[in-house]
Amino acid sequence: MKKLFILSFSLFAAVAVAQTPVPLYLDESQPIEVRVQDALSRMTLEEKVKLCTAQSKFSSHGVPRLGIPEIWMSDGPHGVREEIQWDSWSNAGFTNDSCTAFPALTCLAATWNPEMSALYGKNIGEEARYRRKDILLGPGCNIYRTPLNGRNFEYLGEDPYLASVMVVPYIQELQKNGVAACVKHYALNNQEKWRGHIDVQLSDRALYEIYLPAFKAAVQEGGAWSIMGAYNKVRGEHACHNDLLLNRILKEEWGFDGCVVTDWGGAHDTREAVFNGLDIEMGSYTNGLTSGRNFAYSDYFLARPYLQGLQSGEYPLSTVEDKAARVLRLIFRTAMNRNRPWGSFTSEAHYEAARQIGTEGIVLLKNEPVKRQQPALLPIDPSRYEKILVVGDNATRRLTEGGGSSELKVKHEISPLQGLVELYGDKITYTQGYAAGRPRYGKVEQPRVDTDSLYRKALELAADADLVIFVGGLNKNHEQDCEAGDRVQYSLPFGQDRLIPELAAINPNLVLVLVSGNAVEMKWVDEVPAIVQAWYLGSEAGHALADVLGGAVNPSGKLPMSFPVKLTDNGAHAFDALCYPGDSIRVEYKEDILVGYRWHDTKKIPALFPFGHGLSYTTFSYGKATLSSSSLTADGSITVTVPVRNSGDRPGKEVVQLYIGDNKSSLPRPKKELKAFDKIALNPGEEKTVTFTITPDDLKYFDDARHEWVAEPGKFTLYIGASSADIRAQASFTLK
Ligand code: BGC
Repeated sequence: MKKLFILSFSLFAAVAVAQTPVPLYLDESQPIEVRVQDALSRMTLEEKVKLCTAQSKFSSHGVPRLGIPEIWMSDGPHGVREEIQWDSWSNAGFTNDSCTAFPALTCLAATWNPEMSALYGKNIGEEARYRRKDILLGPGCNIYRTPLNGRNFEYLGEDPYLASVMVVPYIQELQKNGVAACVKHYALNNQEKWRGHIDVQLSDRALYEIYLPAFKAAVQEGGAWSIMGAYNKVRGEHACHNDLLLNRILKEEWGFDGCVVTDWGGAHDTREAVFNGLDIEMGSYTNGLTSGRNFAYSDYFLARPYLQGLQSGEYPLSTVEDKAARVLRLIFRTAMNRNRPWGSFTSEAHYEAARQIGTEGIVLLKNEPVKRQQPALLPIDPSRYEKILVVGDNATRRLTEGGGSSELKVKHEISPLQGLVELYGDKITYTQGYAAGRPRYGKVEQPRVDTDSLYRKALELAADADLVIFVGGLNKNHEQDCEAGDRVQYSLPFGQDRLIPELAAINPNLVLVLVSGNAVEMKWVDEVPAIVQAWYLGSEAGHALADVLGGAVNPSGKLPMSFPVKLTDNGAHAFDALCYPGDSIRVEYKEDILVGYRWHDTKKIPALFPFGHGLSYTTFSYGKATLSSSSLTADGSITVTVPVRNSGDRPGKEVVQLYIGDNKSSLPRPKKELKAFDKIALNPGEEKTVTFTITPDDLKYFDDARHEWVAEPGKFTLYIGASSADIRAQASFTLK
């Protein structure tokens, strides 16, 4: 009897369960908008408001009552940051959070290879997913305006087209892991000095032609699910709640349906945050305002003050419906996506990817023989040298440390010295040569060593060596390549400018490896036969560098920014201090659209190493450019082909670059602008024909009076080259 009762009860329960409909918001077969509306219909006003703020340093609220999970975030953009305490900036003391560090984004941009960007996004996405993150805070695509910007290393260079092409695959592949990209810092965060309040003034043309395209591509082509507002102001309003940037451009013009997240502590006003496009407020301090309190996330601008304003009718309910819908959409795409993969962490494949991206991004700036008739110094021929001296603090310094929020705790970081020792064994001796203090956020720490004796020892050992490899540059300390401060000089710090020419005088077999995310002044450039730009290469730094110096990999990176001879040769530094760094209240972009090579070309100021420059251990010869037609109609296209041959004796890769100039226009335009590129691999003697397609869209400028993109009929010139200054073929056509 008892048994029968139990059986009939369970049958009844099973039928009841089967008949209880799954709420629509939990049903993944439903369209996402149906789920969003269903969830909203079940939520209280308090719950909707809660979705809009942080609950800890790196997480924001879910809806616990409905089983809608919290959002977990992590920096970004070069690896998954170590776990931070719930409510302070100290590390959480986890022992399972040492990640793979991928090369810094300047290096990625220097590959000029979207496949590398896809590889990057896939691998970092797997790491983020394994670490259970829903948002990765990156990639960054602010335009490189001045070499003094402390955060250029986190961005993709000075050209909007290159940055756009490179940012898209990173986002697409990252998000395949069910982890949202949070593209930063939107927009015009082009300096760290006074970043929290400097008010950027610029023309609409500079905004649309230079500073916005990479963000637009990130949103429209990359399909980014979130975007981070910048700290600075733009035309009087903080970028994190800025009507022009967030409402009118991002959400209306570009149709962005994702979430706008503040930079940490980037919100300053409830009313602006409510009306000007902000969705999630995160904070540097507990109360989002000034300093730490125990548990005061409820005091955030979008927390209690917002709720009260909604209850009193000061703010319309439609504002919170829209914000909560955006956050829910993000949660359904990430944390509540049951189909997302599991990810993986510090796998061999991730290190291999880091190494491959690193080797492909390293740029050979200069490579000459020391004496006539000799081969160029690189790649290193070990049979010629018994004693190889490695000099420089960056040969051993951990460069994944410092830099600010992009700092990484890594399982391993192969230093340049270690990479070279693995390759050349006991031929290698090391001496530090110069010293820099440890990285400390917001402070410069002096080294605690006798720098004169380091210097003397380096010269002594160099005199006795057959080859000297100097590994120097900047580092991740405050006022170098680091968040929250700009560089204070264009030249190299820590006495390197004195040491390098002296080393060259004592031993002309000198290879200089520059580790930096920024251009630097090189007064001694003529005295050094071989110079390599090695960026910040992450976990596999030493292996990637040794691959290139030793010749296992033929360098194929090209500069994503210009290296001016002197600072005032850069457009942002060609005017008064209001142009950079501003007067602490505002900064005016007086160089306008002439950023980077656009300035060098148009003003006829040659760069030391131009945008797009990068040598190879082989040589490439370019044939004639052939156009499919000499005229282009408004809705047509033309193709241009150019044969490129590997004329040297090693396999190599070349980045063939297409620039276009408008011969005559009603508004001033740069001499030429990058419109396409292709990276091709060629064996010795092999020839390939590169084909580019040009449409009227490639010829347009932004007409600020009409607020639209315009292509003016007339003659245009095509420049095909190995860099922005090394033009190998030219042709012209007419737009009808
Ligand atoms: C940085 C952001 C970073 C955030 C969280 C801010 O200081 O500007 O790029 O994602 O901190 O660490």
